[in-house]
Amino acid sequence: MIQWSGVDSPSDLDWLGLYSPPESPNDHFIGYKFLNESSTWKDGFGSISLPLTNLRSNYTFRIFRWSESEIDPKHKDHDQNPLPGTKHLLAESEQLTFGSGVGMPEQIHLSFTNMVNTMRVMFVAGDGEERFVRYGESKDLLGNSAAARGMRYEREHMCDSPANSTIGWRDPGWIFDTVMKNLNDGVRYYYQVGSDSKGWSEIHSYIARDVTAEETVAFMFGDMGCATPYTTFIRTQDESISTVKWILRDIEALGDKPAMISHIGDISYARGYSWVWDEFFAQVEPIASTVPYHVCIGNHEYDFSTQPWKPDWAASIYGNDGGGECGVPYSLKFNMPGNSSESTGMKAPPTRNLYYSYDMGTVHFVYISTETNFLKGGSQYEFIKRDLESVDRKKTPFVVVQGHRPMYTTSNEVRDTMIRQKMVEHLEPLFVKNNVTLALWGHVHRYERFCPISNNTCGTQWQGNPVHLVIGMAGQDWQPIWQPRPNHPDLPIFPQPEQSMYRTGEFGYTRLVANKEKLTVSFVGNHDGEVHDTVEMLASGVVISGSKESTKIPNLKTVPASATLMGKSESNALWYAKGAGLMVVGVLLGFIIGFFTRGKKSSSGNRWIPVKNEET
Ligand SMILES: [Fe+2]
Repeated sequence: MIQWSGVDSPSDLDWLGLYSPPESPNDHFIGYKFLNESSTWKDGFGSISLPLTNLRSNYTFRIFRWSESEIDPKHKDHDQNPLPGTKHLLAESEQLTFGSGVGMPEQIHLSFTNMVNTMRVMFVAGDGEERFVRYGESKDLLGNSAAARGMRYEREHMCDSPANSTIGWRDPGWIFDTVMKNLNDGVRYYYQVGSDSKGWSEIHSYIARDVTAEETVAFMFGDMGCATPYTTFIRTQDESISTVKWILRDIEALGDKPAMISHIGDISYARGYSWVWDEFFAQVEPIASTVPYHVCIGNHEYDFSTQPWKPDWAASIYGNDGGGECGVPYSLKFNMPGNSSESTGMKAPPTRNLYYSYDMGTVHFVYISTETNFLKGGSQYEFIKRDLESVDRKKTPFVVVQGHRPMYTTSNEVRDTMIRQKMVEHLEPLFVKNNVTLALWGHVHRYERFCPISNNTCGTQWQGNPVHLVIGMAGQDWQPIWQPRPNHPDLPIFPQPEQSMYRTGEFGYTRLVANKEKLTVSFVGNHDGEVHDTVEMLASGVVISGSKESTKIPNLKTVPASATLMGKSESNALWYAKGAGLMVVGVLLGFIIGFFTRGKKSSSGNRWIPVKNEET
């Protein structure tokens, strides 16, 4: 809680800036809040409570007076709001120090490795001193341990601004990476990370991957981002709080069943503002420290003006959406299986985590990059071809491919037309020939399910006609409209093409549940945490779609949305039995700072409301 008093002639443009590190210049805040959030602001005193994420550095808080006449319409944030002025500093707080210290491991997240019977854990700390993981099957006996490799990236590794600017750059800390080995299939393991000298994290647990399991559970989405408890330079994604909340509910309901998460690009939406990555990892830690968190690269992690693969047809597709990060935080903060790597052609270290695959239970999962070369003849194409051709369908009857930009969408995303055509030309034949079951895409911030499809034509079975889903609905809110009618392009009527079986503007995520006979994907809406669309793919090839809408069509075979989410031994009600836990972002501090301020000027009383209106 931050308290202030003694502000003379308060103005509703008076604002509170958050600074970390404390010596940051006045216009290098990480975020801000208006004092008028406090009900007593007009009386010159008040308080604001907000959770703070450990940025491995102290915070300070400053109060500024800002008047309407000083609004600079050219100095705007990403939401087109004028950035607050810093000419009149009224007060600065003492420094706020995290009780747990800068050495504490934070942002813990898991992933699979190339080896079965292992689990990777990564985390961040403020120094590079040696850290470890200790783990075991009992909470009271973490008898195994492994040293973690520490690494970091520097400001000069960033390719452009804001990532390499003094406003966007912050010390990202040390990233630690280690692997827990010799795990028994399907067993719960307890673990903590840290060191005796710098402190240990709390104990977390996960269920080890069981490659022979008869059931597979995954939570899948794209474009989630994170929420920040303050306004910052770029658009943040408030809906991501609900997405994480409902997935946490589902994970708790699973009990001792293994699961995994796929976040298929556009991950934190930091775009060069370093601390947003910290906010993201703090927000997802409750789920990512419990089930492996898998990713593929999106335009907002990567795209930069000199990216090495930018054919003429892609000149207007690959822009500067990475905010100058050029894939560096993505490549170091995650360590996915496989060994894909592309040079950035700059000082930045190579881009990793581009394409890889693994088996989990009855599903073979493939992750690809739509931001780097995927055309015939390239190394990624060769990987995808070899990988799809070598799947053992007796072991994994279902194959799920995931990438960021969609091959199919009915969104009016004109800019990406050429990339969709190239994907259909180069990748779709591989998917069709090798009987990919399901293709999942993000980038478009909508949920949309297509019929089993190839060459833009609906088929009857998924063999030869993968089912495509767009699942970029997990948090980012900006989205173009659906495709208009070609013969009435200006009329606001957006008929749903017949290939599009279900589409919605609702936020949420998808659940995948598969056994050897059937793979089911359900869309869960964030407003109620319930299933709003379902598709089932049987190993025989039959595709059954069941949604609230389709149940109204008499001759379409339907499946109740609630019937197929879990294996036979579990009641579906279990998904909902435990309710939703309250998500706390970052660390809530009971810390009170007193401000004694001297007011200078009065100002008129218009209320400023930040509006999210457009993504650039
Ligand atoms: Fe995207």
